[in-house]
Amino acid sequence: MTPPEPSVYPTISLTLTDLEQDSWQKLAAALEGKKDMGFKTMTLACRTANGADARTVVLRQVDVVRKYVWFHTDVRAAKVMQLEAFPDATLLFWDDTQQIQLRLTVETRLHTNDYLADEQWQTLGVGNRKNYLSEHKPGSVQPSPYPGFPTHLGAGLPSLEESENGRDNFAAIECRVLTMDYLHLSRDGQVRARFQYEPDSKMSWLAP
Ligand SMILES: Cc1cc2nc3c(=O)[nH]c(=O)nc-3n(C[C@H](O)[C@H](O)[C@H](O)COP(=O)(O)O)c2cc1C
Repeated sequence: MTPPEPSVYPTISLTLTDLEQDSWQKLAAALEGKKDMGFKTMTLACRTANGADARTVVLRQVDVVRKYVWFHTDVRAAKVMQLEAFPDATLLFWDDTQQIQLRLTVETRLHTNDYLADEQWQTLGVGNRKNYLSEHKPGSVQPSPYPGFPTHLGAGLPSLEESENGRDNFAAIECRVLTMDYLHLSRDGQVRARFQYEPDSKMSWLAP
């Protein structure tokens, strides 16, 4: 009997369940990993009244079991208005080293004055809190370049006490993951799969 041809799709020996768990572990690992890790940042794409909008945000928290991810933003930013009007969004991750794209469809929920926002605010150091000290609404027109925080801070950090002034501008955005589309690029063959969590759980391989 002729032995079976070696697979040209090495990762295909993974099961869909392995692949799904591995993808979530990679997202969680990005929180701990180096700054240049691919999944550390993502593109948040939103619907708007006129079409669509997109921008980069930092992944801040991952709940591997419940399938939630979180990011932080200034409550005055355009994305917050967009998500309030259209809570459904897409989060797009690309890891150039691993050649993996993850495309998550999510339902978002804004947290500003609740314990969840407080809890995440408490995890932020003064360097991150500096981003919330802007005296001006993000995207507002300015007469000259404005650094996004009071100019007396310069390259320095606010004191812990001064950093608390940013709390009112801080929002944590909860993203409940509805589906995850996985794509791995490889010269040996692409691997694409779709994992659905809501309304019911199912997974399938897809043609790339
Ligand atoms: C690498 C990188 C990371 C960023 N992370 C965040 C973030 O975590 N939260 C955020 O609100 N904006 C972040 N920004 C800025 C946004 O991309 C965007 O310019 C800003 O939030 C205004 O967006 P909006 O007007 O669409 O709301 C980041 C930008 C870059 C380049």
